[in-house]
Amino acid sequence: MILIDGKKAAAELRAELKEEVAELKSKHNKVPGLTVILIGDLTPSQIYVRNKEKSANEVGLKSEVIKYPDSVEEKTVLEKIQELNNDETVSGILVQLPLPKHIDKQKVIEAIDPSKDVDGFHPMNVGNLSSGYESSIPCTPLGCYLLIKKIEPNLSGKKAVVVGRSNLNGKPMTQLLLKENCTVTITHSKTKDLKAECLEADIIVAAVGIPELVRGDWVKKDSIVIDVGINKTDNGIVGDVHFDEVSKNAKALTPVPGGVGPMTIACLLKNTIDCFKRSQI
Ligand code: GUN
Repeated sequence: MILIDGKKAAAELRAELKEEVAELKSKHNKVPGLTVILIGDLTPSQIYVRNKEKSANEVGLKSEVIKYPDSVEEKTVLEKIQELNNDETVSGILVQLPLPKHIDKQKVIEAIDPSKDVDGFHPMNVGNLSSGYESSIPCTPLGCYLLIKKIEPNLSGKKAVVVGRSNLNGKPMTQLLLKENCTVTITHSKTKDLKAECLEADIIVAAVGIPELVRGDWVKKDSIVIDVGINKTDNGIVGDVHFDEVSKNAKALTPVPGGVGPMTIACLLKNTIDCFKRSQI
């Protein structure tokens, strides 16, 4: 079984991006900039944002974090986004989710200039991705896609099963796999026989948020299994895949942690650089 090392893959991607930033700097005399807006004091969000900032600095991006208290008015956030949209030194804007209840997530996402939307959540980018046009691609599915391609460069005709249909993961993952000519089945919590669907798959991407849902006898030999889940349980953090069981059957599997997670952040840096490059044309 190949244990897919997301930490190593992310470090390699960051090294490539660092070189690219240095080249862009010498060509344009400026570097791409990422601005993250963090509202409230949720611990996981704070940890994510700190990691994003650290990685951005490591590859040489200009990085800024704007923090607001939980009580901040929606209007204040929308005005700040407008200001960042008009700021030439800002290539990418990310508003860390989840947001406090009184702030309308969709309004915030739609306020971001689609050309600076490093999350790929703006309806314009969602539409462009599903139409097969150039767009920002949500970081987690992009990271999964790059890991899958490392194991299997030619995905044409492969059967892929995506478990989970969220806008963040399942839906964009489906679009990426379709673009590679996979036959994709989207499954979710209401799917009748999830095991039977998974048993058909050459590639399984589990992004449903149910601890250790995908069992050893759900996967066929030679399948590639990507685990997007991060679930807190009494036994610590586990994925959506039962690691011990599935590792006995699959051809390749991502661990949790150390699989998809590090790639997500590296892909955010990639998206920031790609937004910068498109803005320089
Ligand atoms: N919170 C958890 N994951 C993400 C993400 O990918 N983007 C944003 N903006 N917030 C998140």
